Amino acid sequence: MRYVYFQTFGCQMNVADSNEFGSKLFVRGYHPTEDPSLADLIIVNTCSVREHAEQRARVRIGEYARMKKKNAGLWVIGCMAERLGEKLKKEIQGVDEVIGAKSVGSFDAILDKVLTDQGADNEKDTSINEVSDFISIMRGCDNYCAYCIVPYVRGHEASIPVEQILETVRIKVDRGAKEITLLGQNVNSYLSNGIDFPDLLYKVADINGLERIRFTTSHPKDCSDKLIRSIAEIDKCCKHIHLPVQAGSDRVLEVMNRRYTSATYRERITLIKSCMPEADITTDILVGFPGETDQDFHDTLDLVRDVRYTTAFMFAYSVREGTAAAKMSDTVPEEVKQQRLRELIDLQTEITKEMYADMVGKQVELLISGRQEKRDRLWMARDNGCKRVLIACDNCKAGTILHAEVVRTSGMTLICERNRT
Ligand code: SAH
Ligand code: SF4
Ligand code: F3S
Repeated sequence: MRYVYFQTFGCQMNVADSNEFGSKLFVRGYHPTEDPSLADLIIVNTCSVREHAEQRARVRIGEYARMKKKNAGLWVIGCMAERLGEKLKKEIQGVDEVIGAKSVGSFDAILDKVLTDQGADNEKDTSINEVSDFISIMRGCDNYCAYCIVPYVRGHEASIPVEQILETVRIKVDRGAKEITLLGQNVNSYLSNGIDFPDLLYKVADINGLERIRFTTSHPKDCSDKLIRSIAEIDKCCKHIHLPVQAGSDRVLEVMNRRYTSATYRERITLIKSCMPEADITTDILVGFPGETDQDFHDTLDLVRDVRYTTAFMFAYSVREGTAAAKMSDTVPEEVKQQRLRELIDLQTEITKEMYADMVGKQVELLISGRQEKRDRLWMARDNGCKRVLIACDNCKAGTILHAEVVRTSGMTLICERNRT
Protein backbone atom coordinates (compact mmCIF):
# COMPACT_ATOMS: atom_id res chain seq x y z
CA MET A 1 0.00 0.00 0.00
CA ARG A 2 1.37 3.46 -0.87
CA TYR A 3 0.24 6.56 0.98
CA VAL A 4 0.04 10.21 -0.01
CA TYR A 5 -0.16 13.14 2.39
CA PHE A 6 -1.44 16.55 1.30
CA GLN A 7 -0.81 19.95 2.89
CA THR A 8 -2.72 22.73 1.18
CA PHE A 9 -2.08 26.45 1.68
CA GLY A 10 -3.92 29.32 0.02
CA CYS A 11 -7.40 29.78 -1.37
CA GLN A 12 -10.25 27.38 -2.13
CA MET A 13 -8.95 27.03 -5.65
CA ASN A 14 -5.88 25.34 -4.21
CA VAL A 15 -8.14 23.07 -2.17
CA ALA A 16 -10.00 22.14 -5.36
CA ASP A 17 -6.68 21.52 -7.16
CA SER A 18 -5.40 19.34 -4.31
CA ASN A 19 -8.61 17.30 -4.47
CA GLU A 20 -8.22 16.88 -8.22
CA PHE A 21 -4.57 15.93 -7.90
CA GLY A 22 -5.47 13.55 -5.09
CA SER A 23 -8.15 11.77 -7.10
CA LYS A 24 -5.62 11.24 -9.91
CA LEU A 25 -3.17 9.73 -7.45
CA PHE A 26 -5.85 7.54 -5.89
CA VAL A 27 -6.67 5.91 -9.24
CA ARG A 28 -2.93 5.29 -9.58
CA GLY A 29 -2.90 3.24 -6.42
CA TYR A 30 -2.18 5.80 -3.69
CA HIS A 31 -4.24 6.05 -0.51
CA PRO A 32 -4.66 9.20 1.58
CA THR A 33 -3.00 9.41 5.00
CA GLU A 34 -3.20 11.98 7.78
CA ASP A 35 0.34 11.23 8.95
CA PRO A 36 3.19 12.75 6.90
CA SER A 37 5.80 10.52 8.53
CA LEU A 38 4.04 7.43 7.09
CA ALA A 39 3.56 8.86 3.61
CA ASP A 40 5.37 7.60 0.53
CA LEU A 41 4.56 10.90 -1.14
CA ILE A 42 4.14 14.30 0.52
CA ILE A 43 2.54 17.04 -1.56
CA VAL A 44 2.59 20.67 -0.45
CA ASN A 45 0.23 22.92 -2.42
CA THR A 46 1.47 26.49 -2.03
CA CYS A 47 0.21 30.09 -2.15
CA SER A 48 2.15 33.21 -3.21
CA VAL A 49 -0.39 35.92 -2.50
CA ARG A 50 1.57 37.40 0.44
CA GLU A 51 5.16 36.98 1.58
CA HIS A 52 3.91 35.45 4.82
CA ALA A 53 2.07 32.67 2.94
CA GLU A 54 5.31 31.70 1.18
CA GLN A 55 7.31 31.80 4.41
CA ARG A 56 4.89 29.43 6.12
CA ALA A 57 5.08 27.03 3.21
CA ARG A 58 8.90 27.13 3.20
CA VAL A 59 9.04 26.29 6.89
CA ARG A 60 6.58 23.44 6.48
CA ILE A 61 8.34 22.00 3.42
CA GLY A 62 11.61 22.03 5.40
CA GLU A 63 9.92 20.13 8.24
CA TYR A 64 8.55 17.51 5.87
CA ALA A 65 11.97 17.13 4.24
CA ARG A 66 13.40 16.21 7.66
CA MET A 67 10.59 13.94 8.88
CA LYS A 68 9.74 12.06 5.70
CA LYS A 69 10.37 8.34 5.34
CA LYS A 70 13.53 7.34 3.50
CA ASN A 71 12.83 7.38 -0.25
CA ALA A 72 9.49 9.14 0.20
CA GLY A 73 8.77 11.80 -2.44
CA LEU A 74 8.34 15.49 -1.56
CA TRP A 75 6.55 17.52 -4.20
CA VAL A 76 5.80 21.23 -4.14
CA ILE A 77 2.89 22.27 -6.32
CA GLY A 78 0.73 25.39 -6.78
CA CYS A 79 1.39 29.11 -6.96
CA MET A 80 4.77 29.36 -5.21
CA ALA A 81 5.93 26.37 -7.26
CA GLU A 82 4.96 28.32 -10.38
CA ARG A 83 6.66 31.51 -9.19
CA LEU A 84 9.96 29.99 -8.10
CA GLY A 85 10.12 26.87 -10.26
CA GLU A 86 13.19 24.64 -10.08
CA LYS A 87 14.92 27.20 -7.81
CA LEU A 88 12.89 25.68 -4.98
CA LYS A 89 14.84 22.42 -5.25
CA LYS A 90 18.08 24.30 -4.58
CA GLU A 91 16.54 26.45 -1.87
CA ILE A 92 15.04 23.57 0.12
CA GLN A 93 16.94 20.30 0.29
CA GLY A 94 14.77 17.25 -0.22
CA VAL A 95 12.23 18.66 -2.69
CA ASP A 96 12.12 16.35 -5.68
CA GLU A 97 9.36 17.69 -7.90
CA VAL A 98 8.09 21.22 -8.51
CA ILE A 99 4.78 21.47 -10.38
CA GLY A 100 3.48 25.00 -10.98
CA ALA A 101 -0.14 26.18 -10.82
CA LYS A 102 -0.33 26.69 -14.58
CA SER A 103 0.03 22.90 -15.00
CA VAL A 104 -3.32 22.06 -13.39
CA GLY A 105 -4.70 20.96 -16.74
CA SER A 106 -1.83 18.55 -17.34
CA PHE A 107 -1.83 16.66 -14.03
CA ASP A 108 -2.40 13.33 -15.77
CA ALA A 109 0.49 13.73 -18.21
CA ILE A 110 2.80 14.86 -15.40
CA LEU A 111 1.88 11.93 -13.17
CA ASP A 112 2.40 9.48 -16.02
CA LYS A 113 5.87 10.92 -16.56
CA VAL A 114 6.94 11.29 -12.94
CA LEU A 115 5.48 8.20 -11.29
CA THR A 116 7.71 5.37 -12.37
CA ASP A 117 6.38 3.06 -9.63
CA GLN A 118 2.93 2.67 -11.20
CA GLY A 119 0.82 0.27 -9.15
CA ALA A 120 -2.44 -1.42 -9.91
CA ASP A 121 -5.39 0.91 -10.17
CA ASN A 122 -7.44 1.19 -7.02
CA GLU A 123 -10.52 -0.91 -7.39
CA LYS A 124 -12.40 1.25 -5.00
CA ASP A 125 -12.82 4.91 -5.91
CA THR A 126 -11.21 6.63 -2.94
CA SER A 127 -11.77 10.19 -4.12
CA ILE A 128 -13.00 12.44 -1.34
CA ASN A 129 -16.76 12.87 -1.27
CA GLU A 130 -17.93 15.87 0.66
CA VAL A 131 -21.39 17.18 1.40
CA SER A 132 -20.02 20.56 0.47
CA ASP A 133 -17.63 20.49 -2.45
CA PHE A 134 -15.82 22.97 -4.72
CA ILE A 135 -15.28 23.12 -8.43
CA SER A 136 -13.27 25.58 -10.50
CA ILE A 137 -15.31 27.12 -13.30
CA MET A 138 -12.46 29.27 -14.55
CA ARG A 139 -8.73 29.38 -14.38
CA GLY A 140 -6.32 32.30 -14.24
CA CYS A 141 -6.98 36.02 -14.08
CA ASP A 142 -6.56 38.91 -16.52
CA ASN A 143 -7.32 41.77 -14.17
CA TYR A 144 -3.81 42.64 -13.08
CA CYS A 145 -4.69 44.50 -9.91
CA ALA A 146 -1.45 46.36 -9.22
CA TYR A 147 -0.64 44.52 -5.97
CA CYS A 148 -1.50 40.99 -7.04
CA ILE A 149 0.69 38.06 -8.09
CA VAL A 150 -2.19 35.77 -9.10
CA PRO A 151 -2.29 36.63 -12.85
CA TYR A 152 1.43 35.83 -13.05
CA VAL A 153 1.25 32.48 -11.29
CA ARG A 154 -2.15 31.33 -12.56
CA GLY A 155 -1.92 32.62 -16.13
CA HIS A 156 -4.62 33.99 -18.42
CA GLU A 157 -8.28 33.82 -17.62
CA ALA A 158 -10.12 30.91 -19.24
CA SER A 159 -13.67 29.69 -18.61
CA ILE A 160 -14.32 25.97 -18.39
CA PRO A 161 -17.05 24.86 -20.85
CA VAL A 162 -20.58 24.73 -19.40
CA GLU A 163 -21.17 21.04 -20.18
CA GLN A 164 -17.97 20.05 -18.40
CA ILE A 165 -18.99 22.03 -15.30
CA LEU A 166 -22.50 20.57 -15.25
CA GLU A 167 -21.14 17.04 -15.67
CA THR A 168 -18.69 17.51 -12.77
CA VAL A 169 -21.46 18.89 -10.57
CA ARG A 170 -23.74 15.95 -11.46
CA ILE A 171 -21.01 13.45 -10.54
CA LYS A 172 -20.41 15.17 -7.22
CA VAL A 173 -24.13 15.29 -6.46
CA ASP A 174 -24.46 11.58 -7.30
CA ARG A 175 -21.73 10.94 -4.74
CA GLY A 176 -23.55 12.84 -2.04
CA ALA A 177 -22.68 16.53 -2.47
CA LYS A 178 -25.54 18.82 -1.43
CA GLU A 179 -23.71 22.11 -1.83
CA ILE A 180 -21.30 23.19 -4.56
CA THR A 181 -19.09 26.26 -4.52
CA LEU A 182 -18.18 27.54 -7.98
CA LEU A 183 -14.68 28.96 -7.97
CA GLY A 184 -12.83 31.54 -10.01
CA GLN A 185 -10.73 34.63 -9.36
CA ASN A 186 -13.55 36.63 -10.95
CA VAL A 187 -16.55 34.39 -11.54
CA ASN A 188 -18.54 37.42 -12.73
CA SER A 189 -16.56 37.47 -15.95
CA TYR A 190 -17.35 33.82 -16.74
CA LEU A 191 -18.23 33.44 -20.43
CA SER A 192 -18.38 30.28 -22.47
CA ASN A 193 -20.27 29.94 -25.76
CA GLY A 194 -22.47 32.91 -24.97
CA ILE A 195 -23.33 31.59 -21.49
CA ASP A 196 -22.49 34.15 -18.82
CA PHE A 197 -22.26 33.62 -15.06
CA PRO A 198 -25.94 34.24 -14.22
CA ASP A 199 -26.94 31.85 -17.05
CA LEU A 200 -24.56 29.26 -15.59
CA LEU A 201 -26.14 29.68 -12.15
CA TYR A 202 -29.58 28.87 -13.58
CA LYS A 203 -28.20 25.77 -15.33
CA VAL A 204 -26.44 24.50 -12.21
CA ALA A 205 -29.60 25.17 -10.19
CA ASP A 206 -31.52 22.82 -12.52
CA ILE A 207 -29.47 19.82 -11.34
CA ASN A 208 -31.69 17.54 -9.27
CA GLY A 209 -30.38 16.64 -5.85
CA LEU A 210 -28.20 19.72 -5.57
CA GLU A 211 -29.53 21.83 -2.72
CA ARG A 212 -27.23 24.82 -2.49
CA ILE A 213 -24.98 26.85 -4.76
CA ARG A 214 -22.21 29.14 -3.57
CA PHE A 215 -19.56 30.96 -5.54
CA THR A 216 -16.46 33.06 -5.05
CA THR A 217 -14.94 35.52 -5.95
CA SER A 218 -17.06 38.29 -7.43
CA HIS A 219 -15.23 41.30 -8.80
CA PRO A 220 -17.25 44.47 -8.15
CA LYS A 221 -16.55 45.85 -11.63
CA ASP A 222 -18.39 42.89 -13.21
CA CYS A 223 -21.15 42.47 -10.62
CA SER A 224 -24.08 43.18 -12.94
CA ASP A 225 -27.71 43.92 -12.08
CA LYS A 226 -28.54 40.67 -13.87
CA LEU A 227 -26.24 38.73 -11.54
CA ILE A 228 -27.66 40.30 -8.37
CA ARG A 229 -31.25 39.69 -9.50
CA SER A 230 -30.42 36.10 -10.47
CA ILE A 231 -28.93 35.30 -7.06
CA ALA A 232 -32.05 36.74 -5.46
CA GLU A 233 -34.32 34.74 -7.75
CA ILE A 234 -32.59 31.34 -7.62
CA ASP A 235 -33.71 29.59 -4.42
CA LYS A 236 -30.69 27.29 -4.42
CA CYS A 237 -28.25 30.22 -4.43
CA CYS A 238 -27.03 30.92 -0.93
CA LYS A 239 -27.61 34.52 0.01
CA HIS A 240 -23.97 35.36 0.49
CA ILE A 241 -21.91 37.63 -1.73
CA HIS A 242 -18.20 38.02 -1.21
CA LEU A 243 -17.40 41.31 -2.92
CA PRO A 244 -13.79 42.36 -2.25
CA VAL A 245 -13.57 46.15 -2.07
CA GLN A 246 -9.82 46.41 -1.20
CA ALA A 247 -10.02 50.13 -0.41
CA GLY A 248 -12.52 52.95 0.12
CA SER A 249 -10.53 55.74 -1.52
CA ASP A 250 -11.08 56.41 -5.23
CA ARG A 251 -7.49 57.49 -5.68
CA VAL A 252 -6.17 54.23 -4.21
CA LEU A 253 -8.70 52.14 -6.15
CA GLU A 254 -7.52 53.82 -9.34
CA VAL A 255 -3.84 53.12 -8.69
CA MET A 256 -4.74 49.57 -7.70
CA ASN A 257 -6.35 49.22 -11.15
CA ARG A 258 -9.59 47.93 -9.63
CA ARG A 259 -11.74 49.79 -12.20
CA TYR A 260 -14.59 50.85 -9.94
CA THR A 261 -15.10 53.79 -7.58
CA SER A 262 -16.31 53.89 -4.03
CA ALA A 263 -19.62 55.28 -5.37
CA THR A 264 -20.19 52.51 -7.93
CA TYR A 265 -19.25 49.91 -5.31
CA ARG A 266 -21.74 51.39 -2.83
CA GLU A 267 -24.36 51.37 -5.53
CA ARG A 268 -23.83 47.58 -6.00
CA ILE A 269 -24.25 47.11 -2.26
CA THR A 270 -27.48 49.11 -2.27
CA LEU A 271 -28.92 46.92 -5.02
CA ILE A 272 -27.85 43.72 -3.21
CA LYS A 273 -29.47 44.91 0.01
CA SER A 274 -32.66 45.94 -1.74
CA CYS A 275 -33.00 42.59 -3.57
CA MET A 276 -31.83 40.45 -0.62
CA PRO A 277 -32.19 42.24 2.71
CA GLU A 278 -31.03 39.15 4.63
CA ALA A 279 -27.91 38.47 2.53
CA ASP A 280 -24.47 38.23 4.08
CA ILE A 281 -22.03 40.55 2.36
CA THR A 282 -18.35 39.92 3.00
CA THR A 283 -15.19 41.46 1.61
CA ASP A 284 -11.40 41.62 1.36
CA ILE A 285 -9.58 44.80 2.36
CA LEU A 286 -5.95 45.68 1.90
CA VAL A 287 -4.31 48.42 3.98
CA GLY A 288 -0.99 50.15 3.43
CA PHE A 289 -0.99 50.06 -0.36
CA PRO A 290 1.76 52.39 -1.72
CA GLY A 291 0.75 56.02 -1.29
CA GLU A 292 -2.20 55.30 1.06
CA THR A 293 -2.64 58.42 3.21
CA ASP A 294 -4.46 58.78 6.52
CA GLN A 295 -7.34 60.32 4.57
CA ASP A 296 -7.42 57.34 2.17
CA PHE A 297 -7.47 54.98 5.10
CA HIS A 298 -10.31 56.92 6.70
CA ASP A 299 -12.27 56.55 3.46
CA THR A 300 -11.87 52.77 3.90
CA LEU A 301 -13.11 52.95 7.51
CA ASP A 302 -16.10 55.05 6.38
CA LEU A 303 -17.00 52.53 3.73
CA VAL A 304 -16.75 49.65 6.21
CA ARG A 305 -19.03 51.53 8.61
CA ASP A 306 -21.58 52.20 5.87
CA VAL A 307 -21.69 48.77 4.24
CA ARG A 308 -21.73 46.74 7.46
CA TYR A 309 -20.09 43.52 6.25
CA THR A 310 -20.90 40.32 8.10
CA THR A 311 -17.18 39.51 8.12
CA ALA A 312 -14.09 40.63 6.24
CA PHE A 313 -10.64 39.34 5.40
CA MET A 314 -8.21 42.16 6.13
CA PHE A 315 -4.56 42.26 5.10
CA ALA A 316 -1.51 44.49 5.32
CA TYR A 317 -0.12 45.05 1.83
CA SER A 318 2.79 42.76 1.01
CA VAL A 319 5.14 43.59 -1.88
CA ARG A 320 5.07 40.93 -4.62
CA GLU A 321 8.04 41.06 -6.93
CA GLY A 322 7.07 41.49 -10.59
CA THR A 323 3.74 43.28 -9.92
CA ALA A 324 3.09 46.91 -10.90
CA ALA A 325 2.87 48.01 -7.26
CA ALA A 326 6.32 46.58 -6.50
CA LYS A 327 7.77 49.42 -8.59
CA MET A 328 5.91 52.13 -6.69
CA SER A 329 8.19 54.03 -4.38
CA ASP A 330 5.72 55.76 -2.09
CA THR A 331 5.68 53.01 0.49
CA VAL A 332 3.82 53.04 3.81
CA PRO A 333 6.02 52.21 6.82
CA GLU A 334 5.43 48.75 8.28
CA GLU A 335 4.31 50.09 11.68
CA VAL A 336 1.73 52.36 10.02
CA LYS A 337 0.39 49.41 8.04
CA GLN A 338 0.09 47.34 11.20
CA GLN A 339 -1.55 50.19 13.10
CA ARG A 340 -4.11 50.69 10.33
CA LEU A 341 -4.75 46.98 10.14
CA ARG A 342 -5.45 46.82 13.89
CA GLU A 343 -7.80 49.79 13.70
CA LEU A 344 -9.68 48.26 10.78
CA ILE A 345 -9.91 44.84 12.42
CA ASP A 346 -11.23 46.43 15.64
CA LEU A 347 -13.94 48.28 13.71
CA GLN A 348 -14.97 45.21 11.70
CA THR A 349 -14.96 42.99 14.81
CA GLU A 350 -17.45 45.33 16.47
CA ILE A 351 -19.69 45.23 13.40
CA THR A 352 -19.42 41.44 13.13
CA LYS A 353 -20.45 41.09 16.78
CA GLU A 354 -23.48 43.31 16.19
CA MET A 355 -24.45 41.45 13.02
CA TYR A 356 -24.27 38.13 14.86
CA ALA A 357 -26.16 39.43 17.90
CA ASP A 358 -28.92 40.62 15.54
CA MET A 359 -29.41 37.00 14.45
CA VAL A 360 -30.64 35.83 17.86
CA GLY A 361 -34.30 34.86 17.65
CA LYS A 362 -34.22 34.54 13.86
CA GLN A 363 -35.07 31.48 11.79
CA VAL A 364 -32.28 30.01 9.69
CA GLU A 365 -32.00 27.22 7.13
CA LEU A 366 -29.06 24.95 7.87
CA LEU A 367 -27.01 22.42 5.98
CA ILE A 368 -25.33 19.99 8.38
CA SER A 369 -21.70 19.34 7.41
CA GLY A 370 -20.55 16.96 10.16
CA ARG A 371 -20.13 16.31 13.85
CA GLN A 372 -18.24 18.64 16.14
CA GLU A 373 -15.26 16.64 17.29
CA LYS A 374 -14.82 18.10 20.76
CA ARG A 375 -18.47 18.27 21.76
CA ASP A 376 -19.87 15.24 20.02
CA ARG A 377 -23.52 15.93 20.73
CA LEU A 378 -23.22 18.99 18.53
CA TRP A 379 -23.32 19.17 14.76
CA MET A 380 -21.63 21.76 12.58
CA ALA A 381 -23.64 23.52 9.93
CA ARG A 382 -23.78 26.63 7.83
CA ASP A 383 -26.76 28.93 7.43
CA ASN A 384 -27.95 30.11 4.04
CA GLY A 385 -25.46 32.98 4.22
CA CYS A 386 -21.86 32.67 5.43
CA LYS A 387 -22.35 31.98 9.13
CA ARG A 388 -21.14 28.90 10.94
CA VAL A 389 -23.59 27.16 13.23
CA LEU A 390 -23.58 24.56 16.03
CA ILE A 391 -26.73 22.62 16.77
CA ALA A 392 -27.71 19.69 18.98
CA CYS A 393 -29.64 17.25 16.88
CA ASP A 394 -30.48 13.57 17.47
CA ASN A 395 -31.28 12.28 14.03
CA CYS A 396 -29.02 14.46 11.91
CA LYS A 397 -26.35 13.38 9.50
CA ALA A 398 -23.98 15.21 7.19
CA GLY A 399 -26.15 16.54 4.38
CA THR A 400 -29.32 17.06 6.44
CA ILE A 401 -31.09 20.33 5.74
CA LEU A 402 -33.27 21.71 8.49
CA HIS A 403 -34.80 24.86 9.88
CA ALA A 404 -33.78 26.14 13.25
CA GLU A 405 -33.86 29.13 15.55
CA VAL A 406 -30.79 31.04 16.62
CA VAL A 407 -30.75 30.99 20.44
CA ARG A 408 -27.41 32.66 21.13
CA THR A 409 -24.00 33.36 19.67
CA SER A 410 -20.59 32.16 20.71
CA GLY A 411 -17.80 34.13 19.07
CA MET A 412 -18.32 33.81 15.35
CA THR A 413 -20.71 30.88 15.64
CA LEU A 414 -24.49 30.82 15.89
CA ILE A 415 -25.91 28.36 18.41
CA CYS A 416 -29.22 27.07 17.10
CA GLU A 417 -32.10 24.93 18.29
CA ARG A 418 -34.15 22.78 16.01
CA ASN A 419 -37.74 23.84 15.41
CA ARG A 420 -40.20 21.54 17.17
CA THR A 421 -42.64 21.26 14.28
N1 SAH B 1 -9.60 37.35 -7.07
C1 SAH B 1 -9.92 37.85 -5.82
C2 SAH B 1 -8.79 37.90 -4.84
C3 SAH B 1 -7.79 36.83 -4.76
S1 SAH B 1 -6.46 37.13 -3.65
C4 SAH B 1 -10.42 39.27 -6.00
O1 SAH B 1 -10.15 39.92 -6.96
O2 SAH B 1 -11.05 39.76 -5.10
C5 SAH B 1 -7.31 37.31 -2.10
C6 SAH B 1 -7.06 38.61 -1.40
O3 SAH B 1 -5.72 38.72 -1.02
C7 SAH B 1 -7.31 39.86 -2.23
O4 SAH B 1 -8.66 40.20 -2.29
C8 SAH B 1 -6.48 40.90 -1.51
O5 SAH B 1 -7.24 41.56 -0.51
C9 SAH B 1 -5.39 40.08 -0.88
N2 SAH B 1 -4.11 40.33 -1.54
C10 SAH B 1 -3.79 40.11 -2.83
N3 SAH B 1 -2.53 40.51 -3.07
C11 SAH B 1 -2.04 40.99 -1.91
C12 SAH B 1 -0.79 41.56 -1.50
N4 SAH B 1 0.19 41.76 -2.37
N5 SAH B 1 -0.64 41.93 -0.21
C13 SAH B 1 -1.66 41.77 0.68
N6 SAH B 1 -2.83 41.24 0.35
C14 SAH B 1 -3.04 40.87 -0.92
FE1 SF4 C 1 -5.65 39.37 -8.07
FE2 SF4 C 1 -7.22 41.29 -8.99
FE3 SF4 C 1 -7.14 38.94 -10.24
FE4 SF4 C 1 -8.27 39.12 -7.86
S1 SF4 C 1 -8.97 40.15 -9.74
S2 SF4 C 1 -6.85 37.56 -8.54
S3 SF4 C 1 -7.02 40.63 -6.84
S4 SF4 C 1 -5.48 40.41 -10.09
FE1 F3S D 1 -4.96 31.18 -4.39
FE2 F3S D 1 -2.75 31.97 -3.22
FE3 F3S D 1 -2.64 31.04 -5.63
S1 F3S D 1 -4.69 32.91 -3.05
S2 F3S D 1 -4.58 31.51 -6.54
S3 F3S D 1 -3.27 29.93 -3.81
S4 F3S D 1 -1.49 32.75 -4.87
